[in-house]
Parts: sequence; structure tokens; C-alpha cells
Amino acid sequence: MLQILEKINETAEFIQKNVSFKPEIGIILGTGLGGLVNEIDIKHVLPYETIPNFPVSTVEGHTGKLIFGILGGKKVIAMQGRFHYYEGYTMQELTFPVRVMKFLGIEKLFVSNASGGVNPDFEIGDLMIIVDHLNLLPDNPLIGKNYPELGPRFPDMSDAYDKSLVQKAIKIAKKLKIKYQTGIYAAVTGPCFETPAEYLRVRNSGADAVGMSTVPEVMVARHMSIPCFAISIITDLGVPGKIVEVSHAEVIKVANEAEKKMTLLMEELISSL
Ligand code: HPA
Repeated sequence: MLQILEKINETAEFIQKNVSFKPEIGIILGTGLGGLVNEIDIKHVLPYETIPNFPVSTVEGHTGKLIFGILGGKKVIAMQGRFHYYEGYTMQELTFPVRVMKFLGIEKLFVSNASGGVNPDFEIGDLMIIVDHLNLLPDNPLIGKNYPELGPRFPDMSDAYDKSLVQKAIKIAKKLKIKYQTGIYAAVTGPCFETPAEYLRVRNSGADAVGMSTVPEVMVARHMSIPCFAISIITDLGVPGKIVEVSHAEVIKVANEAEKKMTLLMEELISSL
């Protein structure tokens, strides 16, 4: 069996051979938020199933392609379709593409996701700039043998979401008159949405929103010292008195509606770098 480093190298070499393109920025697009791709001047597309060692996306609403192109004047690589713990992947498998993106040369990682808001001041459709996270998953992709070539045994997480990128994004949101919130994102396994008691527990843990992604990718990116920026679209509310039935279809619908302002903010932020 190939060691993780050999696998990352093999995959990065395959991509470099097929796509001579050195990305500066990696982007991971969340549920119902693939529309940012329409703003990319696309140079190459690689479906996940054609890439050696890549997991294949199984969720409805996630298409599963690596997109290479220009966004905001920068060379980007975007994952249209991401991998989740609830799909049955190990933490190492679902974060593998982030490691490959690093080997391809990315210097920053941008992530989007959909989440349930547990802060009572939030509204459905709000855009939340993530300033910190809580890993409420029962696992961590960095458990196991550490590879110093990737990063340290005990990586720092005090600046998991790059403060200067957050400040820049806030300035841009104000300039473009985009309503935004800032907050802490808690990652849980899913696939069940939370019970009212679970939403309350997440809130009491100190989070503003809860979702099923992003935290593993950010932990792996920070292990490799990649500055990260992430935005969450609040697609439903886990707030007492406001909890209604949630469905994946509803999450996608709200995410699609809120996508325009998120795309604008991401694009402006990338072009400001
Ligand atoms: N909980 C967990 N994940 C989610 C939610 C939620 O309410 N909404 C969108 N993703």
C-alpha cells in the first residue's frame, strides 16, 4: 500500500502532467454553492473519477470536478463537490485533495459551506464569515503518524481563519453593502440534522452555526501552514422557537439564493490579494 506522501505525490504529478497550470489559490465549494465556478475563466476540468487516489463524491448536489482557471486575476483550483465524513470516508481520505492542492502550489485556501444558524441574531440566508471553529467530530485527520514534510506533530490553531483575510472580507462586504455576520462554526458528523436539544448543545458550546464539513479541511491546511478563509451560508435556524423541519433540498435552495453575494465577496477578496 502506498504511503500517504507517495499518494499525494503521485496524484499531484498526474494532475501536473495533464494540466500544466500552477494554482495560487485553492477553493472548496459547499452544498448548493458551486455557482462560483461560473465566474471562473476555466482552462481545464478534471472529473474526480479520472484522478488517481481521489475519492469520488456521492452526495446529491455535489458534482465532483477539479476546475482550473482564472478568478479575480488569480490562478485558482476549485473543488466542485467535496467529501464529507458522513459519506463514510476516513478523515485522511476526505482531506486528501487539500494536501494535493498544497503540492500543486496553492498559497491560500478558500472554503464555502451551508450551515444551520444557532445564534438567535441570525436569519436564514445570512452569510457568516467564519472566524473560528469547534471540532465536534469524533475524529481528527492529523491523528496517526505525522509527516514532518506536511507539518508539525502539534500544529497551532490560534489563527485557523486568517485574521487579515477576515478583515479584508469585512471591508469588502461593507463596501459592497453585503449583509454579513461573523461567527464560530461547529462541525458535526451528520447526516442527521440536529434535534432541538442538539442545536442547543452546539449553541452552549460557543458556536454560531453548525454544519458537516470544512473543519477537517482547515485542520489539514493549517497543518501545512496554508492561510484559510471560509464563509458559511445560514440555510436554516437551530434556534429555540424557530426550528422547523429541514431537508437537503431546502438547504440547497437557500444556498443557491444566497450564493450570488457570497460569490461576489469571494471574487472581490481574491482579486484584492
Ligand atoms: N445542521 C447541520 N448541517 C447543516 C445544517 C444544520 O442545520 N444546515 C446545513 N447544513
